[in-house]
Amino acid sequence: MIGRLNHVAIATADVRKASGIYRNTLGAKVSEPMPLPEHGVVTVFVELPNTKIELLEPLGANSPIARFLEKNPAGGMHHICYEVDDIYAARDRMKEMGATITGSGEPRIGAHGKPVLFLHPKDFAGTLIELEQA
Ligand code: CO
Repeated sequence: MIGRLNHVAIATADVRKASGIYRNTLGAKVSEPMPLPEHGVVTVFVELPNTKIELLEPLGANSPIARFLEKNPAGGMHHICYEVDDIYAARDRMKEMGATITGSGEPRIGAHGKPVLFLHPKDFAGTLIELEQA
């Protein structure tokens, strides 16, 4: 069912500092910070030849990554995003397989303007998974 790795998301308390590490130390192509208030994050995209890294800093009181950073103050890998052809077929399959979809359980529009689902880490080797309709 899953296809290409779309991105790996890394949560950080300081997205400018983290983007400096990717730009200067690792020599990657890095975007300017982009606030996404409706998603509760400031994002920076690191463009790699075969995938993207998303650096996420919490924005606002109800940021979905605030609790993660409380538990992991130094930051860390927050989720992995895999592409799927059909988000509704993916939802149905995940329900059939007994996997827990976070939130309402229905696809919503993600940070890239495409429909996404998040799957609870308890069912996926401890990793939060995002499925995005490519
Ligand atoms: Co993501």
